[in-house]
Amino acid sequence: MSLPVVDSCCSRNTSPAFEPSELSPGSSTNPSASHENISSSQPVHFAGNRATCPFASASSPDMPTLAVGNGDGGHKKLYYADYLRLDQVLNAQNPISFMKGNPCHDEMLFIVIHQTYELWFKQLLFELDTVRAVLAALNIGEKLISLALHRLTRIREILKLLNDQMRVLETMSPQEFLEFRDYLFPASGFQSFQFRLLEIRLGVRPQDRVNGRWIKGLSPEHQHVVREAQQEPSLFDYVERWLRNIPFREYRGYNFQKSYESAITRMFEIERRTILTKLEPADRGAMLAELSNTYKTFESVFKREVHEELIKTEKRRMGFRATSASLMITLYQEEPMFQLPARFLQMLVDVDEQLNRWRHAHSQMVHRMIGIKAGTGGSLGHNYLKRTVDSQRVFSDLANLSTLLIPRRLLPPLPSVLRDQMRYFHSVEMYDRTMFEVGGGGDEIDWSFC
Ligand code: HEM
Repeated sequence: MSLPVVDSCCSRNTSPAFEPSELSPGSSTNPSASHENISSSQPVHFAGNRATCPFASASSPDMPTLAVGNGDGGHKKLYYADYLRLDQVLNAQNPISFMKGNPCHDEMLFIVIHQTYELWFKQLLFELDTVRAVLAALNIGEKLISLALHRLTRIREILKLLNDQMRVLETMSPQEFLEFRDYLFPASGFQSFQFRLLEIRLGVRPQDRVNGRWIKGLSPEHQHVVREAQQEPSLFDYVERWLRNIPFREYRGYNFQKSYESAITRMFEIERRTILTKLEPADRGAMLAELSNTYKTFESVFKREVHEELIKTEKRRMGFRATSASLMITLYQEEPMFQLPARFLQMLVDVDEQLNRWRHAHSQMVHRMIGIKAGTGGSLGHNYLKRTVDSQRVFSDLANLSTLLIPRRLLPPLPSVLRDQMRYFHSVEMYDRTMFEVGGGGDEIDWSFC
């Protein structure tokens, strides 16, 4: 099996944990991209990364060859500035105010900051595409989840950096910005097609958007790229499919949802009794009503119709099975088999949260710079941006799992037959005994951990 559309350098970068043979081949796009319906053979595109991979061979039409040699064979030695194309990168800052003969010092900072952001967006997309490729695999074993977690951790760290970077821009005063702002019309970050790709590939859908007009501001070429991305499964879709297929929700008579239901019933009975015994009669009614409302949220884990209602009213996005699987992983995250998946789910929440923090930081910065004026891209400026905060989060369902947690003391233990399945099993008998016979250092092993 071969990797779906990945440059050779990209697959090289994914080793050693990444096993191309474990990934599904894919060649066509899925127009529906519905998360309940992704088949394992759906493709992952790396558009936007192909031509720009720094290790692309001379066969890439956009990349001039860099000669590499030891100096005696007539080859040119690889030179730092050539390798990094610094001639292009460092000559790409052309402040308009300078060209117009009215040089505004801060426009240089404005350009460099935006370019830096765009470079990081590019890296984020590069990382995100490999995470999606990993999750497109038919069998997603521990190695693949470990790789996806590793890449997501990097994504989170880059996003943190992007949040910190906002402070540098804030050293520019609103007055200094006004000096050159008029030159920028009608260009705007609204037209950052890489930012849109990032949102789309994470899982922001057209219906989640506060303002659907953004796409009209893009060039026809960028509109095309973005529309294509909207047809592909997003990270959210892949995560949901992976969760749906997590084993152990039902195992030899054990059913997670039933077990959760009985734990919840017990928990609510205890709370009901506490209200009845500890509260004054006058305060009981409101508290009991509140308790009954909260119960409905919990019920959604084991009653499909309640869950469907939450989906219809857009209070939940993730499907029934995937939600209960993510809850099971979270509740029993100390079980060896769930430790890695639980960290992976947490990292998805972290990434989502960091991007949301960026939205918030950007919106605050914009308020400071231009008050409540409209943006150069034609939106309501700060008023528009603050509405995008929270409303365009992708993994809220995972963050909201905390609502559904139950105290450890009330958590039903897993049946032993299931726990055994979920344990990493190790014993001396399982070792290859030749290790000892050929003097492989058996005596040197520190067995004190046993
Ligand atoms: C003085 C600094 C900045 C100001 C005043 C500013 C202003 C705005 C405004 C008003 C919008 C709303 C769209 C519009 O009508 O134009 C916007 C959107 C946007 N800006 Fe900025 N911005 C600044 C810096 C940045 C930087 C450094 C980036 C980094 C790439 C950035 C990226 C974006 C993105 C991606 C959007 C689209 C957000 C969305 O639609 O959810 N902006 N900006």
